[in-house]
Amino acid sequence: MNIVVVGAQWGDEGKGKVIDVLAQEADCIIRYQGGNNAGHTVVADGEEFVFHLIPSGLLHPGKIGVIGNGVVVDPEALLEEVQRLRAYGIQAQDVLKLSDQAHLIFPYHKRLDAAEEADRTGRLGTTGRGIGPCYVDKVARCGIRVADMFEEAVLEQKLRRNVEDKNRVLTAVYHERPVEFEPLWRQYRQFATALRPFATNTTRFLHEAIARKQRLLFEGAQGTLLDIDHGTYPYVTSSNATAGGACVGAGVPPTCIDRVIGVVKAYTTRVGEGPLPTEFPPELMERIRAKGNEFGATTGRPRRCGWFDAVIARHAVMVNGCESIVVTKLDVLDEMPAIQVCTAYELDGARTTDFPSNIAALDRAAPVYESLPGWQADTTQAERFDDLPREAQAYLHRLEELLGAKICLISIGSKREQAFKVGHW
Ligand code: IMP
Repeated sequence: MNIVVVGAQWGDEGKGKVIDVLAQEADCIIRYQGGNNAGHTVVADGEEFVFHLIPSGLLHPGKIGVIGNGVVVDPEALLEEVQRLRAYGIQAQDVLKLSDQAHLIFPYHKRLDAAEEADRTGRLGTTGRGIGPCYVDKVARCGIRVADMFEEAVLEQKLRRNVEDKNRVLTAVYHERPVEFEPLWRQYRQFATALRPFATNTTRFLHEAIARKQRLLFEGAQGTLLDIDHGTYPYVTSSNATAGGACVGAGVPPTCIDRVIGVVKAYTTRVGEGPLPTEFPPELMERIRAKGNEFGATTGRPRRCGWFDAVIARHAVMVNGCESIVVTKLDVLDEMPAIQVCTAYELDGARTTDFPSNIAALDRAAPVYESLPGWQADTTQAERFDDLPREAQAYLHRLEELLGAKICLISIGSKREQAFKVGHW
């Protein structure tokens, strides 16, 4: 069984924990897009580990992690993560495979990310990790890939050219100081030596794994509404975070995917700029943010929070083909006397349940809410669906109806044990 796990909101749905749970029944866990803009938190044995580039799930013994060709890789960030894994007794060279076709992030990408963001009329609120500019180079066909690092002459020629080009933009357009070639060149040659043990043709590796009937688990980063094609463009990241991205970003055919699982929070959050129709008023925002610890795992920025938006989640279920849903952080709503769910939008005098595909329309859309009774009881000790208060069960059933997908796993806290599978598993 090969499974893709995707975020069905704006990222930060708790995919790290879901992957950690599902990884027990997988052989390989694969990242297929994004980079170290992601932050996937796993709490194991009371300790918190935040994965940025390495697939979550590697904390389980005997699993192989793959960073696919669709990921953009900051070597410094990757090596730092490899080092942190070592503290857990995990030797990354035994369990991690890095695609030799993945594109590399260079310091000039981060400099451009910051300069472009500062210059934009409408800020996007990027993570500043150089993700967008690196994908720009990939599409412009001037990017530098992992394999290029191992060919000194190729690396030198490509890097020299890129440094010249980026410096023209940095100095003439943004009036910034240029980057220097020599220190970069030295640094990336060192990175090449350090990354060599991980680099391989991961496409071939995955096809061999499929032939051996190994179980693959594809770990989406960010979320559907941050997808470059299907999200709230331009307030999106620069990759395909949706399930289709798994095939392109790992080099596997659609026919090998057996199942897509979408992950939603019991409410909605987003970090960075862009529309969030169900955004809470300030007081409720503070309460939920504190209770749900809604601060970015990568940048520490406070996340914006709002009620569950079934319009966007339904769009995500459709685009990804999610046959089942994981609901996380249900416990954060434990104290609410009443819970609102956005079932439709009022847009230009009409009611719609469709996701507006242009951002100006989404900005004008007013949520239509349905109010459900809260349960005002602690759910964090629940071990099965029947342990949940009646009102919590009703809330979850309503979400299933609205999304047209069955819930397969419910998470009620950050610890590994605080999650249980539901009948439709
Ligand atoms: P970038 O990916 O750094 O270019 O940022 C583009 C947008 O995606 C910004 O709004 C970020 O806050 C958002 N973003 C990127 N990665 C994540 C993530 O892992 N979780 C939530 N939001 C993210």
